[in-house]
Amino acid sequence: MKHLALSLALALVLAGCSEEQDSAGAPPDIGAGKTIAQAQCAGCHGLDGRGTAPGIPHMAAQADTYLIESLQAYKEGKRVHAALRDLTAELSIADTRNVAGYYASLPPLKDTAAMAPEKAVSPYDKGKAAAVACAGCHGEDGNSKTPGIPSLAGQQPGYFVTAVRAYLDGTRSISGKEMLRELNNVDLESLALYYASQTPARREAPAIGDPAAGEPLSARCGGCHGAHGVSHDSATPSLAGQDAQYLVSAIKAYRDRSRRHDAMLANNTDKEIADIAAFYAVQESTAAESAQMSVQDLAGKCDRCHGPDVENPTMAIPKIEGQDRDYLIKALRAYHDGKRGSSMMHRMSLPYSEAIIESVASHYASQPAR
Ligand code: HEC
Ligand code: HEC
Ligand code: HEC
Ligand code: HEC
Repeated sequence: MKHLALSLALALVLAGCSEEQDSAGAPPDIGAGKTIAQAQCAGCHGLDGRGTAPGIPHMAAQADTYLIESLQAYKEGKRVHAALRDLTAELSIADTRNVAGYYASLPPLKDTAAMAPEKAVSPYDKGKAAAVACAGCHGEDGNSKTPGIPSLAGQQPGYFVTAVRAYLDGTRSISGKEMLRELNNVDLESLALYYASQTPARREAPAIGDPAAGEPLSARCGGCHGAHGVSHDSATPSLAGQDAQYLVSAIKAYRDRSRRHDAMLANNTDKEIADIAAFYAVQESTAAESAQMSVQDLAGKCDRCHGPDVENPTMAIPKIEGQDRDYLIKALRAYHDGKRGSSMMHRMSLPYSEAIIESVASHYASQPAR
């Protein structure tokens, strides 16, 4: 009895499977898809596949395999959107295929690129423009020539952002804080990337301290700050080539606890601190970021998968040219924050900061849809 029930159940499952496979292979019924679109989707995605408000994706001419996969992801809760969860719960497999087929069959929207709200500017160029305000003190390309003022050239971008935030929240003090307060997150990250890619200048031996005496004392610092003070960790500052007087005051600030960080222990004497500072000041540094990335360079990495010439039958890859800019930003942030699952996109977008997300989103939004 048990056996019979099992084989019956199996037969049913198998029959169900092959039926589904058959219908999945069949061409979509575009007319039926249009009826669904008109009734349930057009209010947001338009009957012509145009998102009706910023943040709603355009779907005209989108790859049908990708549309089907997205709808499935909403249905299964892998992508989260309240309206779509309810809508997709009602859609049969055939409905899904038909409505996806309908939107995929529409011609690409001609005018979205021209209507894109913002021209793409690379974080590097944005940062360079913003850095004009800092040059008076930190030097033309971030190489400070003023004793007591730190160089920013080549500095680690993660540390740069942390440092400015520390001034803003009062953990570190600085005069002229108003200027930093005017920077939004995108400005700040753009500045960080710009400075990170500037070449640090070589320094003459400073008037204070003895580099040779500082070298052995630096042994305990290298594990974090890198050999000879060239850091390879985004959160840890490079010390090589830094202004000696600034180094002295920074190390003393940790020693007297006016500047605090768990990693930083400083119990050296004044003489030792001067020697350590002299040692690091004369070391040759290198830029934390090697390339001055243009928007084209960035997009080149994306076009390996999203580009018009890519044929990849094993992966459903969305077209992103001419897509709504707000939606692109939202999607990239979701990958970045791990809120939208795709191991591939996650890997791609993780190193990308807010500044880069805005740049590439503006770039793709202003490309002609295809
Ligand atoms: C209430 C507005 C609304 C309605 C109605 C709606 N959508 Fe959407 N749709 C959205 C929004 C907003 C998003 C972006 C959600 C996100 O960030 O994941 C979206 C995303 C999508 C996506 C993913 C597109 C991409 O590029 O990743 C597909 C596919 C989609 N909708 C299909 C449909 C279909 C088919 C219908 C009708 C059955 C429909 N939607 C109805 C608002 C709507
Ligand atoms: C009036 C001179 C002046 C101007 C203008 C100025 N800074 Fe500074 N900056 C300083 C001084 C002085 C310090 C060191 C303060 C301290 O001891 O913590 C500093 C420190 C920093 C640091 C921390 C560096 C480190 O190694 O910890 C960052 C980052 C920074 N400034 C960014 C900027 C940016 C970005 C601008 C332009 C928007 C700017 N600064 C404009 C004088 C200035
Ligand atoms: C365990 C890791 C670690 C060790 C060891 C360490 N540091 Fe640091 N150091 C850091 C980190 C992280 C920061 C950034 C802290 C912050 O944000 O204030 C820092 C900051 C600094 C700064 C401030 C740089 C600037 O641009 O403002 C100086 C100077 C410095 N360290 C010198 C030293 C010296 C000298 C030694 C050895 C005697 C040393 N550090 C050992 C991790 C370390
Ligand atoms: C290795 C291949 C690959 C690379 C490289 C890649 N992507 Fe993707 N991308 C994908 C795949 C696959 C998806 C669909 C994932 C999913 O279903 O969420 C996707 C989805 C997206 C989406 C969501 C589109 C939508 O309609 O919802 C955006 C936006 C995007 N990628 C932008 C980019 C940008 C910008 C870059 C370059 C910084 C990039 N991608 C690099 C494979 C890639």
